Amino acid sequence: MKSSSFEFHPCKKFCGNNPTKTIYFLMVLPFCIFLALFLLSSPVPIYKQLFFTRPSHHQILVIPKVEDSCDLFSGGWVWDLEGPIYTNSTCPTLPDSKNCGKHGRIDTDYMKWRWKPDSCELPRFDPKRFLNLFRHKKLVFVGDSVARNQMESLLCLLSQVETPTDIYHDHDDRFRRWHFPSHNFVLAVFWTKFLVHADEIIRNGLPSGEFNIHLDRPDANWTRSIAQYDVAVISDAHWFFRPSTFYESGHPIGCLYCDSNKRKLKDLGLAFALRKAFHSALRALKECDECKGLYFVRTFSPAHFEHGSWNEGGRCNRTEPLGPEGVSESAFELEVREIQVHEVKKVSKVSRDKRIKVLDVTKAMMVRPDGHPNEHWHGPEMEAFNDCIHWCLPGPVDAWNELLMEMVARERSKE
Ligand SMILES: *[C@@H]1O[C@H](CO)[C@@H](O)[C@H](O)[C@H]1NC(C)=O
Ligand SMILES: *[C@@H]1O[C@H](CO)[C@@H](O)[C@H](O)[C@H]1NC(C)=O
Ligand SMILES: *[C@@H]1O[C@H](CO)[C@@H](O)[C@H](O)[C@H]1NC(C)=O
Repeated sequence: MKSSSFEFHPCKKFCGNNPTKTIYFLMVLPFCIFLALFLLSSPVPIYKQLFFTRPSHHQILVIPKVEDSCDLFSGGWVWDLEGPIYTNSTCPTLPDSKNCGKHGRIDTDYMKWRWKPDSCELPRFDPKRFLNLFRHKKLVFVGDSVARNQMESLLCLLSQVETPTDIYHDHDDRFRRWHFPSHNFVLAVFWTKFLVHADEIIRNGLPSGEFNIHLDRPDANWTRSIAQYDVAVISDAHWFFRPSTFYESGHPIGCLYCDSNKRKLKDLGLAFALRKAFHSALRALKECDECKGLYFVRTFSPAHFEHGSWNEGGRCNRTEPLGPEGVSESAFELEVREIQVHEVKKVSKVSRDKRIKVLDVTKAMMVRPDGHPNEHWHGPEMEAFNDCIHWCLPGPVDAWNELLMEMVARERSKE
């Protein structure tokens, strides 16, 4: 009989006429069959397990209980069969700008990764636990539209157990407040582009996209009522990437992305502006006697435009996370993060009575180019562009609220 070249004849090759080899082969065969079946039936493509999870021996041998020493922010994304606790049809408040499924995104793997700290387990988001932690409390997200994105994620997560009531929104949804009646919990968002005061420069009656930024004047839009909040998550950065003039004590001191020769002002750089703005924002908390809350600075959330910047047809159509090589030590995202972390450390040193912590999402998000809407969104502004800044819901941004829940639980256990 002629055997096809595709037929698998391991015994021909390995056994020959040697009885010891035959016995050895028969012993090994069941194991091979088992392994093959396991590989084939494994719900997770094996290459994913190999490349995207970063198990350490520590995590296999002991799964420690939640303890304070574990750094929640150093870890990796692991494949998660359970997936998100909500969908675009169970979250009534999911905005069109983040509803990627509704706008044609067909891949869904990006929803199925969980953040796994290297040396402990991050508890799954539990809406009941979260609402109990925040019973009779007020939480506010302060910042730009990425801060709003985290609030929208939290609304979706919580609305699985309790429907919130819309108690306030301004005409363009930049300031919103929701109330969860059975836990008497208030969730709010305060809009601020720079954390500090700024005016857009008007030219020929039209907004120019350029700003006068008063780096030493915290923006009253958020400082005005921050003292009423028990927990605040403060963030910002994306608006700084545009031409601006900087002021201190009301006088121009420099500029950014500017023609220094023409302006007689020095280009002081992005890092300078960010450092000053975060310094002023944190100083506002430090100097506010009634501010007795728990404060977080949520670090820079990276954008992932490829093949061009946002206004040059850049896009982000990846469908899988990057491996650890996605975080290069010299990345400018890490520089921005470093400025934010440094300012928190500085203020914590001089005002020990304030609790100001870092919600350090930058590295985790740098490897998630797959989490953005790209072309799959619909919103009132900038429709012509791909969105590689905000995050689809459900999506990796949900992990920020998982981290927030854990950080708040840890702080509560110290009280
Ligand atoms: C939810 O997303 C799916 C695709 O994943 C889409 O077919 C559906 O229309 C969306 N539903 C809603 C209510 O947006
Ligand atoms: C404060 O918020 C109002 C309302 O959205 C806005 O018009 C104003 O420009 C904001 N102020 C600053 C400094 O951003
Ligand atoms: C992303 O877009 C480019 C250009 O259109 C295409 O070549 C590539 O296959 C796309 N990637 C995925 C994962 O769809």
